Amino acid sequence: MTASPTLSPRATACGKVIVTGEHSVVYGYPALAAAIPSSLELTAEPGPADQPVHLRIPAWDIDVALDPDTDHPVARAALEVLGFSDGPLRGWTIQGQTTLPSRAGLGSSAALTVALARLCLGQDADLATVVDASLAGERVFHGQPSGIDSEVAARGGLLRYVKGAEVEAIPLRHPLSFVVVPSGKPRSTADQVAKVRARHDRFPMIIRPVLDALGALVDRSISAIESNDLDHLGELFNIAHPLLASLDVSSWILDELCDAARNCGARGAKLTGAGGGGCILCLPQDDPAALCSALQDRGHAPVRIDLEPSS
Ligand code: PMV
Repeated sequence: MTASPTLSPRATACGKVIVTGEHSVVYGYPALAAAIPSSLELTAEPGPADQPVHLRIPAWDIDVALDPDTDHPVARAALEVLGFSDGPLRGWTIQGQTTLPSRAGLGSSAALTVALARLCLGQDADLATVVDASLAGERVFHGQPSGIDSEVAARGGLLRYVKGAEVEAIPLRHPLSFVVVPSGKPRSTADQVAKVRARHDRFPMIIRPVLDALGALVDRSISAIESNDLDHLGELFNIAHPLLASLDVSSWILDELCDAARNCGARGAKLTGAGGGGCILCLPQDDPAALCSALQDRGHAPVRIDLEPSS
C-alpha cells in the first residue's frame, strides 16, 4: 500500500517587482526583476479526511474548497499545482498570511503557486521543479505567462530574465531599496500586452525602437546597480516611464503617482509591470523611510522593498 500524499507544515514564497524591461521582455529583450522577500506564508494542517483540501487567505478574500468540479480560478490553479506535485486532494486545510496586495502586478499568483508547490515538495525542493509546478497554476491565471514571476517567487533576489533562457541571478554588493506605490486601479496584464501588440503591429517602425530602448535600459540598470550609481539608476527609471507611456500602458493615475514620488524626493519613478493601473516603482534617496512617510502624508500606501547584499 502506498502512503497517502502529505503536506509540509509551512512554506513561503516571494512577491516580485519588475525593475526594468516590462513589455519589451515579451519581444525577447531582457528584464530585471526583484523579489519582495517572504511575501506569502502558507501553513497546512490536517482537516476532515473526506473533504477536499480547503484554502483560506483572508488578506486576498480567498476561502475556497479545492473541489475538482470547481470553476473558481484560484481553486483550479491550486489543483493544477497539487496535481503536478502529486499533492493530496483531500484532508488538509491551508491557511495563508501575506502583506502583498493581490492583482497589482506584484506576483501574488506566482507567490501562491510557488508556496503551494513547496507545501507538497518541501520548502527546499529543487527550484526548477518548483517553478514548473508553479507554471502549471500560473497558466490557469495568465494563459501563457513569460515565467518571470514564478522564477522570482521561487528564487528571491535580483534576476535578469530572458524568455526561454536560463535566468541569471545578479549578485548584490550593496543594500538596495525600492518603494512600490499601489495605484489601487485594477488592470489586466493580458489586455495591456495586447494593446502593445496592436500598437506595434500598426506602427512597427516607430514602436520597435521604443522596445529596443526599453531592452537596452535593462543592462544599463544592472551596471548602475553593480556600481551602486543610484542617481544613474533613477535617471533610467525616469527615461523608462515615458517610453512605456508611448506604448499606451501608462494612465493619468500612474503619471501623477510618478510625479508625486519625484516631488517627494525619489531619484526616479516608473510604472512597473503591465501598467494601466497596478503600481509604480520608485528609487528613494538614501533614506527610504523619508520617501515612504512623504508618500503616506499624501494619502498613498507605499510598500518598502529592502534587498540585502548577496552572501
Ligand atoms: O503581470 P505584471 O503586471 O507583473 O506584468 C507582466 C510583465 C509583462 O512584461 C507586461 C508581461 C510578461 O508576461 O512579461
